Amino acid sequence: MVNKKKKTRKVKRKSKKKKHRINSRKKIKKIKKKKKGFREMSVPIPLWKKDMDEVKKSLEIERQKRFKLLAEKLKASKFNSKGDFKEKEKWNKKAEKIKKREEKKKLKKDIHEKDKEVDMTPIVKAIEKKPGQADYEKKLGIPSAISKPNVEKQEENKKIIQGHELESYNTVANDVPFKISIVDTEEGRRYSIKLPTISKPTRALLETVKQKLINLIDIGTAEITDISAIERMKDKLKEKAIELFQRYKLPKENINFLTGLLINEMIGLGNIEVLVADPSLEEVVIASAKEPVRVYHKKYGWLATNLILENEKQIENYSSIIARRVGRQITTLTPMLDAHLITGDRVNAVLYPICTKGNTITIRKFAREPWTIVDFINNGTCTPDIFALLWMAIQYEMNILFSGGTASGKTSILNVCTPFFPANHRLLSIEDTRELQLPSHLYWSPLVTRLPNPEGKGQVTMLDLLVNSLRMRPDRIILGEVRKHETAEVLFEAMHTGHSVYATVHADTSSETIARLVNPPISIAPHLLKAVNLNVVMFRERRRGIRRVLQLAEFIPEESDKQGVKTNLLYRWEPSRDKIIPHSNSMRLFEDLSRHTGMSFSAIHKDIANKKEIINYLVKNNIRDMNSIGRSIQKYYLKKGWKTIKSKKSLSKKYKKKKKKR
Ligand SMILES: Nc1ncnc2c1ncn2[C@@H]1O[C@H](COP(=O)(O)OP(=O)(O)OP(=O)(O)O)[C@@H](O)[C@H]1O
Ligand SMILES: [Mg+2]
Repeated sequence: MVNKKKKTRKVKRKSKKKKHRINSRKKIKKIKKKKKGFREMSVPIPLWKKDMDEVKKSLEIERQKRFKLLAEKLKASKFNSKGDFKEKEKWNKKAEKIKKREEKKKLKKDIHEKDKEVDMTPIVKAIEKKPGQADYEKKLGIPSAISKPNVEKQEENKKIIQGHELESYNTVANDVPFKISIVDTEEGRRYSIKLPTISKPTRALLETVKQKLINLIDIGTAEITDISAIERMKDKLKEKAIELFQRYKLPKENINFLTGLLINEMIGLGNIEVLVADPSLEEVVIASAKEPVRVYHKKYGWLATNLILENEKQIENYSSIIARRVGRQITTLTPMLDAHLITGDRVNAVLYPICTKGNTITIRKFAREPWTIVDFINNGTCTPDIFALLWMAIQYEMNILFSGGTASGKTSILNVCTPFFPANHRLLSIEDTRELQLPSHLYWSPLVTRLPNPEGKGQVTMLDLLVNSLRMRPDRIILGEVRKHETAEVLFEAMHTGHSVYATVHADTSSETIARLVNPPISIAPHLLKAVNLNVVMFRERRRGIRRVLQLAEFIPEESDKQGVKTNLLYRWEPSRDKIIPHSNSMRLFEDLSRHTGMSFSAIHKDIANKKEIINYLVKNNIRDMNSIGRSIQKYYLKKGWKTIKSKKSLSKKYKKKKKKR
C-alpha cells in the first residue's frame, strides 16, 4: 500500500512538474507572441532607416566579395606558398582596415545623398515615435485611398527617360522647380520631367496639412467661378499652409517647396501644372489614362512625356474642376466642355464613351507674354512692310479678315495687330473663350459666350453678343471666329453700318476665304463681301512647324458673278526662299484709304514709310512687350511725332541741352 501511495505521489509530482513545464512553455510562447505582435504594431520603419538597412546589406555583400577576392589573391601570393604566417596576418589586417575605411566613407556618402533630396529628419523623428503606421494614418484621418496611391503609375512617372539629351531647362510651377529634358530615344523624341521624390513620411505630412487646410478654408461656390477670388483663395491657402508647416520646424526652402506642391494638388491639376507652366509648350493633351500625356513643343513639335495619369477618374476629376471654375458642368449627360484655366489657357474636355479611348483633355496654351510685331518680324512670320500696311489700314478703320488653317496663328496675328488701335476708340471683342490680350491702355470690353446649363438655360451665343455689342456703341468689333450664318450676317451688317470689324475665318487661302464665306454653312450674300478691305492668310509649315503670312490680299468687287468679289494678292510667301515678296499692285486699298482720309497717294505712301521706320526702330531696340509697343504707338497718335518714341535717355539728353542753352 505504502509503495502504491509513494508511486501515486511520484506520478502526481511528475505530472505537476510536467504541467508546470507546459504552462511555462505556453507562457513563454505567449510572451514571444506578444513581443512579435508588438514588434509588428509599433515600429513603423521610416523610409530612411529602410534605406540604411539596404545600404548596409549591399555593403556587407560587397565586403564579402572583396574578402573572397583578397583571399584568392593571398592564396596565390608568395607568402601563402612559403607559409610566412606573420607577414600574411599583417597584410590581412591592413586590407581589413582599408576596407573598413572605404565602407564608412560609402555609408556616409549614401546617407548624405538620401538626405539631400528633402531634409525631412524632424518629421521622420516625429513619426518614429508614433505607435504604428496604420494607427498613425487613422489618427490623421488620412483616407486609405490617399495613403495607398497607384504606386505603379507613380513610379512610372518618376522614371526619367534615358537617351541622348538634346536640351534641358528648368521651369517653376507654384514655387516648385522641375527639370525638363528633351531626350532622343530609340522609340523617338521624348519630353522628360524630373519630378521631386517625396518619402512616405513627407507624403503623410502633406496629407495631414491638406486635410487641415480643407477644414480651415471653406471653398464656396462664389469663390470657384471668380478668378480674382481664386487668386485670393490661393494666397490664403499658401499663408495657412506655411503656418502649419512651420509647426514642424522645417527649413524655409522645404516649406516653400511643400506649399507649392500642395497648391498644385489642391487647386491645380497636379503634375499637369508643370506642363502648363512650361512656356515652350503650345499644347498639352491627356488622351487617356493608358497612354502618356503628350505635348506640342515650340521647337520640337509633338512629344510624348513620361507622365501618365493614375486612372480615368483622375482625368474626369480634373475636367470637373476646370468646368466648375467657369460655372459649368461636365457629366455623362453633358460629356463635352469648352472652358479656360485660371491662367487663361483654353481647355477642351471630352468624356468616355464619347471619346472611346478614355477621358480626354486638350489644353491650348496662349503665350504668357503675348506675341508682338517685334517677335513676328524676328521669327520671320511677317515683314515690316506688311505690318506698316496693316497699321495704316487699322488706323483708318478698314475691315480685315484673318484666315488660315487650324493653329496656323490667326488669333495670334490678330492680337499682334491690336496695339495699332487708337486708345480713344471703343473696342469690343467677342470670343468663345478668352484668348485675346490687348495692351492695357486700350478702351476695351471683352465679351465671352456661355453654354446653357444642364436645364438648358442661361445660354449666351455669339449672335446674342454681337447684336448686343451694336448697342454698346463700339468703334471697332473683334470677333473670335466666323462660323455660323447668323453671326456672319450680323457681322457684315456691322461693317456696312460703319463699324470697323476684325475677325478670323478657317480657310487656307484668300480665294478659299471667299468660297467659305459664300457657301454653307456660313452662306452670306456675295455682294456683302465688298465690305472687307484686307485679308491676311496665315500658314503653318508642317515640316519645320514655322508660321508665315502666306498671303496679304484685297477683295476687289466684280461686276459679273452676281456682284461678288475676287482677290488681288498684294504680298505672298515664297516657300523655296522662305521670303514674303510683293506680288501685284493694289487696285483698291489705296483708293479706299484716300477716300477715308482725304490724303493723296503720295502722302499715304509717305505715311506708310514713316510707320515702317517706327516698326524697324522697335525691332532694332528690341522693344518687344505688348504694353511698351502700345505706348510707343500711342505717342505717335498723339501727334508728338515718331521721334518721341525714342528712349527716355535721348529725351533726357535733349532736355539737358535745352537747359544748358537757357
Ligand atoms: N508666328 C508664330 N510663330 C510661332 N508660334 C506661333 C505663331 N503664331 C502662333 N503661334 C503659336 O501657335 C499656336 C496657335 O496659335 P493660334 O491660337 O493663334 O492659332 P489659330 O489659327 O487661331 O488656331 P485655331 O484654329 O485653334 O483658332 C499658339 O500656341 C501660338 O503661340
Ligand atoms: Mg484662333
